[in-house]
Amino acid sequence: MGLALRIPANDNAKKTFHRRGGDKNQRMASHLITGVAGFIGSSIARELVHRGERVRGIDNFETGKQENIASIRDRIEFVEADIRDHDGLKDAFAGIDYVFHQAALPSVPLSVGDPVRAHNININGTLNVLLAARDAKVKRVVYAASSSAYGETVTLPKREDMMPNPVSPYAVQKLTGELYMQCFSRVYGLETVSLRYFNVFGPHQDPGSPYSGVIAKFITQMLEGDSPTIFGDGETSRDFTYIDNAVQANLLAASAPAEAVSGQVFNIGVARQISLNQTFQALREITGFRGAAKYAPQRVGDVKHSLANIARAQKAFNYSPDVDFEEGLRRTVAWYKLRPHPTPAASTAI
Ligand code: UD1
Repeated sequence: MGLALRIPANDNAKKTFHRRGGDKNQRMASHLITGVAGFIGSSIARELVHRGERVRGIDNFETGKQENIASIRDRIEFVEADIRDHDGLKDAFAGIDYVFHQAALPSVPLSVGDPVRAHNININGTLNVLLAARDAKVKRVVYAASSSAYGETVTLPKREDMMPNPVSPYAVQKLTGELYMQCFSRVYGLETVSLRYFNVFGPHQDPGSPYSGVIAKFITQMLEGDSPTIFGDGETSRDFTYIDNAVQANLLAASAPAEAVSGQVFNIGVARQISLNQTFQALREITGFRGAAKYAPQRVGDVKHSLANIARAQKAFNYSPDVDFEEGLRRTVAWYKLRPHPTPAASTAI
């Protein structure tokens, strides 16, 4: 990777931040989000800004989008940096208390097509983030792990004490990141928490690539009057998780007592299994699309069924998914309808 280009921090971010109404001499906690211009990273950033928290974000815009942070750009400190560039991370981590590590190449098929590129970002990049966090004496790193680590399990729902069985390079990489998180807790005393996301969806998810999440693709295609393509027989199932639930989990995991969370892995889902056929039907009702879905062969590296047991996160940090699947779909469709210039839906051929 080339040298990371630093964009001057905005003036607001350079000021000393204090908690509203708090002791002026008490320094406000500082949050760093890697992949801040991505779907989940920008959603965490907006919530932190909304809560009046201090936020710094890094991104290299390889998959992140300027438009995702446009509404908060003047209220966060932004550093253009690439997690593959170890030396470029040092300044970005200075003075940080909490890291939300969301930067990744988040796609099973992309990792199947180019495992080396995905490895460099998802594993080497994660190691760089941990090294920078350790050296900057960060309090805690919350990591975007993935439900894909489980692969096919004999029983559902999937529990954190089950043996991982990753099928795709992406799943191997995300699981390796978890192991590094645990290792840094044990070896260097850096607090880390891994959140295994179960198919997060919602506003700001990029629909414009063949590798985009299925709900973002289906919604934009159906709003354009195009038939979406279902890979497999449509009975493939996921525990689709609305973005607000994932954001809530991150903020709770960052503030929970260390003894309840550090060095541990938690499922973040809704604990409800929805098939692709059911997803398509639910979206037909919400969007008014009257056509039929197309069917194509199942994707290589795909897991057939995914469903989370969320008891561990509920117990450890009171995680409670507030937004259910249907409400999440309604909010997401409403958001895509209002987008000023929707990206044309990409071909479903991969
Ligand atoms: C996987 C991980 C998830 C991770 C995500 C990152 C699992 C169980 N989940 O999601 O934790 O966050 O990667 O990308 O491994 N599909 C269609 N038509 C389309 C697009 C997709 O039918 O146009 C199907 C896929 O074949 C798959 C399902 O929809 O069966 C979900 O696909 P996708 O949204 O890409 O996510 P996963 O690969 O499940």
